[in-house]
Amino acid sequence: MPTSPEPTPGFAKAWSGRLEGGSNPTLEDYTSSLQEDLPLAPFDLEGSRAHARALARAGLLDADTTVKLLAGLERVGDELAAGSFQFLSSDEDIHMAVERRLTELIGDPARRLHTGRSRNDQVALDLRLWAKQACWRLVEAAAGLQGVLLARARRERLTLIPGYTHLQRAQPIHLAHHLLAYFEMLERDVQRLRQCRQRLDLSPLGAGALAGTTLAIERAAVASELGFAGVTGNSLDAVSDRDFAVELVFDCALVAVHLSRLAEDLILWNTREFSFVSLPDSWATGSSLMPQKKNPDVLELVRGRAARPISSLMGLLTVLKGLPMSYNRDLQEDKHHLFSAVAATEASLLALTGLLAEVRFNRERMELAARDPELLATDLAEHLVAHGVAFRRAHELVGQAVRQAEERGQKLDSWLRSSWRELGLPDDPDSSGLFDARAALARREQPGAPGPSATEAALREAAARLRRSRAWVTRQRR
Ligand code: ARG
Repeated sequence: MPTSPEPTPGFAKAWSGRLEGGSNPTLEDYTSSLQEDLPLAPFDLEGSRAHARALARAGLLDADTTVKLLAGLERVGDELAAGSFQFLSSDEDIHMAVERRLTELIGDPARRLHTGRSRNDQVALDLRLWAKQACWRLVEAAAGLQGVLLARARRERLTLIPGYTHLQRAQPIHLAHHLLAYFEMLERDVQRLRQCRQRLDLSPLGAGALAGTTLAIERAAVASELGFAGVTGNSLDAVSDRDFAVELVFDCALVAVHLSRLAEDLILWNTREFSFVSLPDSWATGSSLMPQKKNPDVLELVRGRAARPISSLMGLLTVLKGLPMSYNRDLQEDKHHLFSAVAATEASLLALTGLLAEVRFNRERMELAARDPELLATDLAEHLVAHGVAFRRAHELVGQAVRQAEERGQKLDSWLRSSWRELGLPDDPDSSGLFDARAALARREQPGAPGPSATEAALREAAARLRRSRAWVTRQRR
């Protein structure tokens, strides 16, 4: 951001009464948070307008001063929005920059705005307003990805795919079940973000620097004017509490971990070895050297960029961990971590949503892999259990059958068909559809299981939850 070194005539530093002479330029440079503060600007102005009205209601501003202040703040907002606002290297932070510009525009009335307010409660307010909006935007973006997961799951409700543990084929499931597992993870993220927003929905304004104010400012009225559900409790805590930022960054980190896992699945599935999915060209990248390459860079970046919110969480906790009560300038370092975590998470949500909407599922490849009869070894063991065999014994018998089939170079099903009598199986495995993956899934209809009816129920439940989240997003829009 270009700043001009010119001092503004008539606008001294806020502390010029106490400290004599100018600041060392290195101090100005080192202590400035202007660059990081920019996202706070609209919230700072909103807070200042509400504060000015509260001062007027308390009889601390006359009508003329109030009108001038509000109009001046409006103009500062316009300049910031238009990008014509000229920052100075002496501005220190967005709060001082706004006040300095306000003084240039309207003169003396600007000197009354900071009455009964400190930058400590001001920055806490700005951050909470920003964080409320961030929670909202993240819920909207997460619901967007859930919407695509659900839409794709609907079309793949009967597509067979192996379910894996240890990255080894384990049991057949439907692709819808796999996609809905990610829906479920994101649903918890959405709930967490909504709760985070609910917990942080308190106005710290009026806490002053640390001990409130002697002036008759109605905290509750300002809070409700700003759309908060209430006011913070303890004034010391109000100016130094960044728990809400930690929670939000944690929520981002967990979203990013979920996205990273989904990206990893898609990266694997996109390999020639799996070939379960193909990326559309518009979502793939090439190699500058190897002409044949088609690379999943977006997915790799979703996986790699998860490092940002994860490290932000550590960063923010580290900023906080040694602070004595109450505000300390260390807290200025919170913004870097908070903003970086939210920006990376939101960007990854949007990118993955776009990509997932267009990825091609190679159903034949998935089904071929899912029809491996070994994937039904567990069903065979459970079949024996249903005939009274103890599970450990059944496990042993089927294990032996798998080994023998392998030694004879046969598939498990053909080996069993030829030898089911010798093995002491109660009946011909084919008669009960034991080696049919679809029949195996039809046997799995408990709540949360991957059977076709259970999947239908899960799709309906997911749709209902998504409707609730979308209704929340619309309700909270401001
Ligand atoms: N830029 C500061 C921050 O982000 C604003 C608060 C400054 N307060 C102070 N006492 N110096 O924390």
